[in-house]
Amino acid sequence: MAVARDSALGCGINHPMNNLILNTDVTAGKISRHIYGHFAEHLGRCIYGGFWVGEDSPIPNTRGIRNDVVQALRGVGIPNLRWPGGCFADEYHWQDGIGPRAGRPSMVNTHWGGVTEDNAFGTHEFMDLCDQLGCEPYICGNVGSGTVQEMQQWVEYLTSANQSPMTALRAANGRAEPWPLRFWGVGNENWGCGGNMTAEHYAQEYRRFQTYVRNFGDNRIYKIACGPRNHDYHWTEVLMQQSRNMRGGFLMNGLSLHYYTPDGPFRQLQSATKFEEHDWRFILKTAAHMDELITRHSAIMDQIDPERKVELIVDEWGAWYAVEPGTNPGFLYQQNSLRDALVAALTLNIFNKHCRRVTMANIAQTVNVLQALILTDEHSDRIVRTPTYHVFELYRVHHDAEALALDLQVDAVGAGHAVMPGITASASRDHAGAVNLTLCNVDPAQSAAVVCAVRGAHGQTVSGRVLTALTMQAHNTFDDPDAVAPQPFAGAELVGDRLTFTLPARSVLALTIH
Ligand code: AHR
Repeated sequence: MAVARDSALGCGINHPMNNLILNTDVTAGKISRHIYGHFAEHLGRCIYGGFWVGEDSPIPNTRGIRNDVVQALRGVGIPNLRWPGGCFADEYHWQDGIGPRAGRPSMVNTHWGGVTEDNAFGTHEFMDLCDQLGCEPYICGNVGSGTVQEMQQWVEYLTSANQSPMTALRAANGRAEPWPLRFWGVGNENWGCGGNMTAEHYAQEYRRFQTYVRNFGDNRIYKIACGPRNHDYHWTEVLMQQSRNMRGGFLMNGLSLHYYTPDGPFRQLQSATKFEEHDWRFILKTAAHMDELITRHSAIMDQIDPERKVELIVDEWGAWYAVEPGTNPGFLYQQNSLRDALVAALTLNIFNKHCRRVTMANIAQTVNVLQALILTDEHSDRIVRTPTYHVFELYRVHHDAEALALDLQVDAVGAGHAVMPGITASASRDHAGAVNLTLCNVDPAQSAAVVCAVRGAHGQTVSGRVLTALTMQAHNTFDDPDAVAPQPFAGAELVGDRLTFTLPARSVLALTIH
């Protein structure tokens, strides 16, 4: 059996087993809670019917925003929410979404289903949503079809306390005080739907647009430039080189990366719930490619920015399959199975591992679109927490925790192009001193025995929860919402510094050493 090795320390031992060395006294960076961020676009039923039902809806809501969805997302400690897109962002004109709703102009959402967007959900509603969620807003401004003035005024409208036409307009719309706002994206996918620009052209546009994204008062904007798609390393190099300022720094705080599983035409061949073992392996292997992408983009960034002044922001990631039969192809509505839980778990383990450069990520998308955490019923007030939701809840322990060095030597699984490490993992220490270890066994059929040397811990007790199901395709529905849900795991044993357990096939496991 082949052995795969993955080390955060650069040293390991040769041992043909699933061996982990967890160094509880060697930190590997801080895991920003913003790695566990989310994305909500005006796309399909993400905003309308997902978050927003309007004040008059029979579905319980607070100022038009669904209470059940807010409550569920508070359960995963949602740290930030990116809005209004996506491709929609570069067609969005924010002034259409303020003021009395009856007077707001409509537009056609040409990207997503050609439906009429009535702008009922705009800036005030989004900021209210973030308040209700207890998360930070992340707004993406329009570069592709917008103007510098439009972006400048939006930032001023949101964050300025000065007397100005923009702040007077805000007050007239019911909000006297500015909002605190940190995260600002200067365009989305400007290599594609955001204007089909070359890297060189966008870099110049970025320099110009970001100039007018001002800090008003004490508010400090964290500027995020549109970064590469997948393995476009040229884009990363050009943006890093051309966004330097005259003081040895950079005109941006973050550079975004977008990567979906899978990319391109393969999506149409994958059903979210009707798939075979080879599809399972293909999707998980494709998701695991995120590690190589981050490693290589980071290597370019390291050369130009060894002090890591610019952070890598993976602000769109997740599984993208064919839409559910009978649904609008432009709405990107897909179910979510145990396979997606594994996609999420292994991707979050990758982000944790790269937490010194990756400080924010946003799964696409929060409700009813792509790899959603929540599905809402069109005809009732029922919602479903998907298997992906449960992974975010299990991994919540890593928010703002100290990453711990972990050395993995694990059996490889699969065959041919789909060979990959059978187990991925990450570990951290929380503020109370507890050590949390999250693992996934990507093999759909075989359990995996693990021996973990817990160095530096003076141990204690171990407890755990596991997410798995009888079949690969298991998923939650409105009639059976808890078919895939975490269960207590009593199978871990800690004797001295030796932790042993067996990961069930196709499972995500979260262990806590107290
Ligand atoms: O998340 C769906 C779409 O995927 C976004 O609008 C776009 O940015 C990306 O291509």
